[in-house]
Amino acid sequence: MSAVDVRELADIAALEGLAADLGDILGAGDVVLLEGPIGVGKTRFVSAFVAALGSTDQVTSPTYTLMHVYETPRLLVLHLDAYRLSGVEEYLDLGAGDFAHDAITMVEWGDRVAGAHPEHLGLVLEFGQSGDNSRRCTIRRRGRSWPLPGVLAP
Ligand SMILES: Nc1ncnc2c1ncn2[C@@H]1O[C@H](COP(=O)(O)OP(=O)(O)OP(=O)(O)O)[C@@H](O)[C@H]1O
Ligand SMILES: [Mg+2]
Repeated sequence: MSAVDVRELADIAALEGLAADLGDILGAGDVVLLEGPIGVGKTRFVSAFVAALGSTDQVTSPTYTLMHVYETPRLLVLHLDAYRLSGVEEYLDLGAGDFAHDAITMVEWGDRVAGAHPEHLGLVLEFGQSGDNSRRCTIRRRGRSWPLPGVLAP
């Protein structure tokens, strides 16, 4: 996987801006794997992404429910969480693949199921300064490329 871009996010508004940027370039069939520690903002990112696509659906954590489906004016967003899964086999059994070609798929703790997605965009979120709302997001891609602004390493 090659490093594509690093975004310093000063606050939630910056996270929302990144989500909107990705909303402009991602399309049906695309897969985003979200990585990063508990509470860093993976669910918050999906919420911002779904809103950026024009949906008013309420986004909640799928840690226990495993998969949520959100409708947006453009396409569906599948929101999954691999935290409690035993591995790729259990992940595939959830059945998201059956309609992923008509949707954008976003998976929290997605690094755990990267083997199921030879082509994906990886977003790695890290906490910034302790006590503030800053985050760093490293964007990586595997298997194909997207027209991301600010490419560091093609
Ligand atoms: N810049 C930021 N980006 C994202 N979330 C932020 C930011 N600043 C503060 N927050 C807050 O951090 C929290 C992130 O929680 P969230 O549930 O999205 O984390 P998560 O990574 O999905 O955790 P988990 O691993 O438990 O699923 C939210 O309460 C959100 O409001
Ligand atoms: Mg979460």
